[in-house]
Amino acid sequence: MSGQAAIIDGKAFAAGLRGRIGAQVARLKADHGITPGLAVVLVGEDPASQVYVRNKGRQTVEVGMASFEHKLPAETPEAELADLVARLNADPAVHGILVQLPLPAHMDATKVINAIDPAKDADGFHILNVGLLGTGQKAMVPCTPLGCLMMLRDHLGSLAGLNAVVVGRSNIVGKPMAQLLLNESCTVTVAHSRTRDLAQVCRGADILVAAVGRPGMIKGDWVKPGATVIDVGINRIEVDGKARLTGDVEFETAVRTAGAITPVPGGVGPMTIACLLANTLTACCRANGLPDPEGLTP
Ligand code: GUN
Repeated sequence: MSGQAAIIDGKAFAAGLRGRIGAQVARLKADHGITPGLAVVLVGEDPASQVYVRNKGRQTVEVGMASFEHKLPAETPEAELADLVARLNADPAVHGILVQLPLPAHMDATKVINAIDPAKDADGFHILNVGLLGTGQKAMVPCTPLGCLMMLRDHLGSLAGLNAVVVGRSNIVGKPMAQLLLNESCTVTVAHSRTRDLAQVCRGADILVAAVGRPGMIKGDWVKPGATVIDVGINRIEVDGKARLTGDVEFETAVRTAGAITPVPGGVGPMTIACLLANTLTACCRANGLPDPEGLTP
């Protein structure tokens, strides 16, 4: 197959998803008098993190949820952050908690994440949720891979029996993505920077998920004709002195071989915050003994 792949519009998909979340939030309020709440904790002044946190807060309010923002100075002692997490765990108005990463170097991120009530773990990073996902049980699922799965399902329908190659083995994207695809009955390969003949491994993929954080690393001739390509990379590069965002896939060549592909920007990126809102709604429903919201969980 050669020509032009279908472009998977993550921006439009995320807008639709937020619309469905907003409708379910309105129903929760009307029928049960419950307002889902998301608490976001930012420690320090990392500029990228500040932008993310601002966007999260705005979109949380836009879908009708309560947003609680906690900003702590970079030099905050870890015990003080632990106290805040304990208060949020105990607060019935808070259904989802997110501690923005990276944390300052003097803090133990793993310890902080595992202090979050797993039922309120909107990121799905708590070790209990990692274990639940890995054993195919009901879990809180990391937002970025959840968004990728939603787009794949929307585009392909059933994923059963397909060859999926995930390039990247991070705890935030690669590993949970592989677990989700395995739970969908894909044949899953997790490749990474040390994989031998990565090009050949990629050429076997019906579904190719790139999450390595290296601009343009996956070339068009590594893509199986007709494959669905999900580009998780958000790399800041400079072209002619101007800052630009680019993915892990060489889009200009891959778009000629793939059957469908997500662009950067406008692909996976917008889905991540939408899935954070989905997770908050899911956590709120579960906390109140209600069924999981429609279409927002794997
Ligand atoms: N920093 C960058 N991405 C993320 C994310 O998905 N969750 C958290 N908690 N921090 C991040």
